[in-house]
Amino acid sequence: MEAYQSLKNYNTFGIDVKATRFATFSDVVSLSDLLPDMRSMPHLVIGGGSNLLFTQDFDGLVVKNEIMGISEASRDSSSVILEVGAGEPWHAFVMHCVAHGFGGIENLSLIPGCVGASPMQNIGAYGVEIKDTFDYLDALEIATGTMHRFYNKDCAFGYRESVFKRGYKNQFVLCKVAFRLSLKPEVNTSYGVINQELERMGVSNPTIKEVSQAVIRIRQSKLPDPKVLGNAGSFFKNPVISMSHYQALQSEFPDLPAYPIDESSVKLPAGWLIEQCGWKGKTIGACGVHSLQALVLVNHGGATGKEIYTLSEAIIENVFERFQVPLEREVNIY
Ligand code: EPU
Repeated sequence: MEAYQSLKNYNTFGIDVKATRFATFSDVVSLSDLLPDMRSMPHLVIGGGSNLLFTQDFDGLVVKNEIMGISEASRDSSSVILEVGAGEPWHAFVMHCVAHGFGGIENLSLIPGCVGASPMQNIGAYGVEIKDTFDYLDALEIATGTMHRFYNKDCAFGYRESVFKRGYKNQFVLCKVAFRLSLKPEVNTSYGVINQELERMGVSNPTIKEVSQAVIRIRQSKLPDPKVLGNAGSFFKNPVISMSHYQALQSEFPDLPAYPIDESSVKLPAGWLIEQCGWKGKTIGACGVHSLQALVLVNHGGATGKEIYTLSEAIIENVFERFQVPLEREVNIY
């Protein structure tokens, strides 16, 4: 275990803060050895660090999950269950599935981060969420050192939500995640831009590989590569508001895009609201709002977490003044 480790290379915003102590683990035995320290001081388990904003040094133990491996647990005529180490990079796992013709997560290509983070926040993109293929996960309970299995119904999945962000926060370390993937995949191109991109590629009956390629092209065209420009993907969640609030806004802003959830609620694209307030492409000191996607805050180099947090507060205030819609951060703040 190392003392006073810089976390700059362990968060995709590239924020230069320190942890009092830092350790990695690559199997359950080495994780178990860390449990006494995790019980006795504040701790944070990280994977790819792609959904984090550090606003100060972390006064405690940061542990990085490096449990690797992809193995087939079972298969029947229509599906296969793969068990995946929580430290596997998410995109590499998607590419593994696409290469083997296992369908279900191709729309989630190029999402940064590790497999262990995928159920924590029910990652989603282009009409697909992880809960659609998630089968179970094994997680070590920090207090007791025992392994627990959680099935889909146990995880309370919601929009970028799970029980591991709520009631079980900081209580378990996810070690292995199992997905049920289709051996007879049907592609999901319900999200408009996928069809447009496939048309541009000249594809009419897409395979999962082509859907994956279309998603990669779309993401590369507007989302910054964290290796080039520090960011944590969508900084805010898309807000859900009441139908009556939406109708009032719509009469004032006829171009307001909206996605109906049910009869009484509507989801709005936060990127649109932020862009309307004039933030898209704005730079404040060393940080700013991405020029191609207003939902993404970026570190142009040397920004502190506090600066990025302050920027996010100004955006939240501005959007609320203009639309009376409260934005919630998607990124975890430390
Ligand atoms: N829009 C703007 N200006 C912008 C950005 C978006 O007007 O600068 C509007 C447009 O009307 C566009 C709509 O917002 O049609 C939706 O934009 P986009 O398809 O880019 O998706 P998003 O709602 O901004 C969400 C997810 C992304 C995911 C995409 C695609 C959240 C918080 N974000 O973004 O997830 O990739 O949909 O499914 O739900 C992430 O979570 O880190 C992430 C990148």
